[in-house]
Amino acid sequence: MNADGRTRLNQTPEWTALAEHREELGEVRLRELFAADPDRGAGHTLQVGDLHIDYSKHLVTDETLRLLRELAAAVDVFGLRDAMFRGERINTTEDRAVLHTALRAPRDAVIEVDGENVVPAVHAVLDKMAGFAERVRSGEWTGHTGRRIRNVVNIGIGGSDLGPAMAYEALRSYTARDLTVRFVSNVDGADLHEAVRDLDPAETLFIVASKTFTTIETITNATSARSWLLDGLGGDEKAVAQHFVALSTNAGKVAGFGIDTANMFEFWDWVGGRYSFDSAIGLSLMIAIGPDRFREMLDGFHLVDEHFRTAPAESNVPLLLGLLGVWYGNFHDAQSHAVLPYSHYLSKFAAYLQQLDMESNGKHVGRDGTEVEWQTGPVVWGTPGTNGQHAYYQLIHQGTKLIPADFIGFARPVDELSDELASQHDLLMANFFAQTQALAFGKTPEEVRAEGVPEELVAHKTFKGDHPTTTILAKELTPSVLGQLVALYEHKVFVQGAVWNIDSFDQWGVELGKVLAKRVEPALTEGADVAGLDGSTRALVATYRELRGR
Ligand code: F6P
Repeated sequence: MNADGRTRLNQTPEWTALAEHREELGEVRLRELFAADPDRGAGHTLQVGDLHIDYSKHLVTDETLRLLRELAAAVDVFGLRDAMFRGERINTTEDRAVLHTALRAPRDAVIEVDGENVVPAVHAVLDKMAGFAERVRSGEWTGHTGRRIRNVVNIGIGGSDLGPAMAYEALRSYTARDLTVRFVSNVDGADLHEAVRDLDPAETLFIVASKTFTTIETITNATSARSWLLDGLGGDEKAVAQHFVALSTNAGKVAGFGIDTANMFEFWDWVGGRYSFDSAIGLSLMIAIGPDRFREMLDGFHLVDEHFRTAPAESNVPLLLGLLGVWYGNFHDAQSHAVLPYSHYLSKFAAYLQQLDMESNGKHVGRDGTEVEWQTGPVVWGTPGTNGQHAYYQLIHQGTKLIPADFIGFARPVDELSDELASQHDLLMANFFAQTQALAFGKTPEEVRAEGVPEELVAHKTFKGDHPTTTILAKELTPSVLGQLVALYEHKVFVQGAVWNIDSFDQWGVELGKVLAKRVEPALTEGADVAGLDGSTRALVATYRELRGR
């Protein structure tokens, strides 16, 4: 216990036991672990829903896992989990409940916030979204001139963009192919320009997605989109009602922007932005894939929610994945975590996870308001695997950093592929299996020499191995499987935040930049006063103004 009476995570006996265990283990050799236990491959797997999880290629023994679970028990990860599912205000710095799990609860579930069951409201919005999505998909909802909607443009940023954009890509083969769906997020005008330049305003629906409806990038882009629409449709303000809908928690701001609140799809302050794409924020996705597929996705989320809520520690997959991250981040000094999907459709998955994980667990102050003395969230990164193999895998294989990685793959290609393209799937998956094999077991100097490699090249061609990976394998990438995957990562992030004793549900770290941008903007105009700026920014602004001819 500290002088201030607090027990710190790194002073608990469980933490100390893990540190000692790490010392004792020394350099773990995966070759040795597999030699000692020939069934390790099959024995270190778990199943959740459709996801087969292989964690055999981790630098852990059964003892490591037991000690990690003891740490989780000591800090009461499951207690916090239960408080979250009960709707308690576990987001303490914003005094909010954290109930994204209610977004995918079945109709008859009862989940209370401040004594009120929120599930009927969740389903009322889902029903309203479904009705609207069907009207757009069928052509019943028309634009101002009576033309059918053929283009849907989601304007939002962060959680109001990354989730639906990622899921739209992931489920592209399930989308209505006669609809063009695009996502605009960047306040760089080029983003909106490129998104709408070949679209007909008469056939375009804008979905303005913003939890707060105050986010400057989104409001600026939405304002420009409205001008583009009105310019294209002869300036009749009445057109806005047919071409703009809003997704928000803030009805006042939506009305203030000029969108009829009848065309607003609501969600609630207990849904964090990065946990929101299965709320109204998913409307663009629902229009693209249809309400039934969207429901399947929600059921996938719910399945993993139930697993996380009820599975014992030994078989609880989010707990396991979260604790493995703690093991590497806190006891191996790993700084980053790679997510490597072997599916072209998951090309935006890592970008989505960056916000989910890094905005949640990028904190240096604990729940008690004091500086933490241990590492918190890792840098999360990745791109589809085969492309990465020809880019940055070199560093994972032979660099000096330990980079734990998740490999995500599917047994079957999507149905839509021609026979010829589908036949490429085995090659894709051969790479998937080969990479984790190479990362784990490497290639010894003896093996290199046996190939006749000259001695001066032996060290260069040796692979040390012992690079830890989790393999996540499912039959195919369906809406349900996508929901399962996302929920798995949501809860993994939760577990880590709980262990590190940080509030994973606030994001104060994004505020300062927003405030300063507002202050800097006026200084960019011709003749503006720059006296209030710091020396560095003042000089940069002067150069900018010169280059802009101001
Ligand atoms: O980046 C900060 C943030 O608040 C994210 O958490 C959020 O997802 C994003 O901005 C967008 O916010 P909003 O949905 O309110 O426009």
